[in-house]
Formats: sequence, structure tokens, C-alpha cells
Amino acid sequence: VAGPQVLMRSAHELAAKLYYHVLTLTEQGSEGRSYVKKRGFTKEQIEHFQIGFAPDRWDALVTILTKRNFSLETMVQASLLGERESKDGYYDRFRNRLMFPIWDGQGHVIAFGGRSISDEKPKYLNSSDSPIFHKGKTLYGLHLARPSIRKLGSVVLFEGYVDVIAAWGAGLSNTIATLGTALTEEQAKVIRRNAENVTICYDSDKAGTSAAFRSAGILEQVGCTVKVAQMPEGLDPDDYIRTYGAESFKSNVIGESLTLMSFKMRYLRKGKNMQNEAERMSYIEDVLTEISTLPRAVERDHYLRQIAEEFSLSLEALKHEQFQIYREKR
Ligand code: GTP
Ligand code: MN
Ligand code: MN
Ligand code: MN
Ligand code: MN
Repeated sequence: VAGPQVLMRSAHELAAKLYYHVLTLTEQGSEGRSYVKKRGFTKEQIEHFQIGFAPDRWDALVTILTKRNFSLETMVQASLLGERESKDGYYDRFRNRLMFPIWDGQGHVIAFGGRSISDEKPKYLNSSDSPIFHKGKTLYGLHLARPSIRKLGSVVLFEGYVDVIAAWGAGLSNTIATLGTALTEEQAKVIRRNAENVTICYDSDKAGTSAAFRSAGILEQVGCTVKVAQMPEGLDPDDYIRTYGAESFKSNVIGESLTLMSFKMRYLRKGKNMQNEAERMSYIEDVLTEISTLPRAVERDHYLRQIAEEFSLSLEALKHEQFQIYREKR
């Protein structure tokens, strides 16, 4: 007899096939197709990422799983079904949602992200952790992106599934995303096993910026070299690509991504007036504090020279100041 994990995996394969079939070929998928069209996903994107649609019914998946003799109790544990409060039956957990299969590193479907196609909340309903799915260890799109990540030695990390899909449409294939939670150390280690260089490309809002700082720290800890991409305020990568196009995204966003220190410097500078002496000095002190955290002398030297040049300060004085800060912190 197959164990519960084997059953959970094959049920997910079956569900992914059902949702894909509904979206691409059936009358019940027509609202899903309108939504997909409105968002501009192509046939190629739908096929590559096996995007599907969960029909607006309580029993589409229940019916199929019952026919195939799956234990519905096990399917509740797999986060595919819910049990009715009255305990007299089961219902489909995902209804009237665009479905993004989530794969493990080998390409088995182990979970779903379901996007509402209306104003219905939550915007994304994701599978709960289960015996086969651990959010904090999984990265969206990794098995699809791995050949490209290995070849390029670099990976682009996004916040959302749709950002990965839009970037793939724009011609970037070394792209992955976390699953709606902060990057974990386990995910960072998985990334490091596949590539050294990581470009963080999070949404350009307050949450995205602070998440970028947090993720960058975790990635550096596991030995990655981090860059951070920047976009106009308020946009996410999918928005950017739809507004400005693939070529601009590749050259002006990914191509112009900043080293982590440059990103920090730009951040520290925000809202400060460099013509004002006090504000300028406070900025320089903040930057020196950041520089003193850099492990490599050549790197520290590089940024000290940059500051010296920009503000016409002597490199000697800056080095002295930076060393003071470094000593105070120890
Ligand atoms: P679109 O709005 O469809 O363009 O998606 P997005 O990727 O821009 O969404 P957003 O930036 O708001 O969120 C990024 C990621 O966070 C998503 O891919 C989800 O994994 C997760 N997320 C967003 N909203 C929710 C939610 O309401 N519930 C849960 N559990 N996760 C969410
Ligand atoms: Mn577990
Ligand atoms: Mn966001
Ligand atoms: Mn977003
Ligand atoms: Mn978006």
C-alpha cells in the first residue's frame, strides 16, 4: 500500500492536471481565461508554469479524488480539501482561483498558490505546510530555473509567483521566488548550493525594501554575493515589465542593479539634503558605519575612495574616522 506522502504527491499531480485542463479547455475555465488575458499571460507562460484554474465549485476535485479512491482525510492533511464542519463530507479548498502549482526541487507538484480573480479575499490562498510541503524550504520555480541558474552562476530572487512568470516571459530564466514569507536561512542555503550571485528584485515599496535588506543579510551569511535591483516607487517586476517592456527591465532594472553597499548608501541618503552640512556629515558617518562592517579591506577602500571623491574629503581622514567607528564597535 502506498504511504500517505506518495498519495499526497499523486493527488497534487492529478489536481494540477485538472486545473490546467479547466483553464485551457473547458467552459468552466472561461472566467479564468478572461483574467489571464487581462493580465497578459501568454500561452507559453501558461504551459511552462502549468497555470490552471480551480472552478467555482465545491466538489470538482472531491469528485475526482473520490473516483480514484483517495483517502479524503489524507487529502485534508495535504491541504487540497477541507472537511465540512458537520463532519459529513469534504469540499475543495481552492475554488474560483487561478492556480499556480508549486514544485519541489525534483519537479513534483507539492502545493498550490491560488490567486483570487475577483475582489474575494485573501488575494492569494496558499497551501498550508503539510508532510510533503514546507514553505520555508521551498523556492518557487527552482526546478525550472536550475539549468539556467547553474549555467549563469546567478539567480534573480522575486517576491511573487507572477514576477517569476513575467520575468520568464521577458527572457530571464534564472528566476525564483519565496512563497509569500520572508526568506529563510534554509532557502538561502538552497540558493547558495546552486549559485553564488543573487540579485534581489523585490517590490518597490516600503515592505519590499526592508525585506530586501533582511534577505540580503541572510544571503551574505551563507556566502552569496548580493545585488539589489531598483524600480520606480510603487511598481513590482510584473508591473514594470508590462509598463516599460522586457528590454528595459533587463537593461535598466536587472542590468543596473546595485551592490548591496551602494543600495545601502542610496537608502541612507533618501530625504537628506547634501547641501546642508549637518545632514551631509550625518550621512557620511552612517556610511562609514556601514563600510566598517565590510569584511574585505579592498571593498572598504573602494567605498572610502568613492566618498572621499564625492565630498572632496581626504582619504586619510575618512580612513581614520572609519577605523575609530570600527574600534568602538568591537
Ligand atoms: P499580483 O497582485 O497578482 O500581481 O501578485 P504579487 O506577486 O504582486 O503579490 P504581492 O506582491 O502582494 O505578494 C507577493 C507574494 O506574497 C505572493 O506571490 C504570495 O505568495 C504572497 N501573498 C500575497 N498576498 C497574499 C495573501 O493574501 N495571503 C497569502 N497567504 N500570501 C499572499
Ligand atoms: Mn512537516
Ligand atoms: Mn508586495
Ligand atoms: Mn507584487
Ligand atoms: Mn504584482
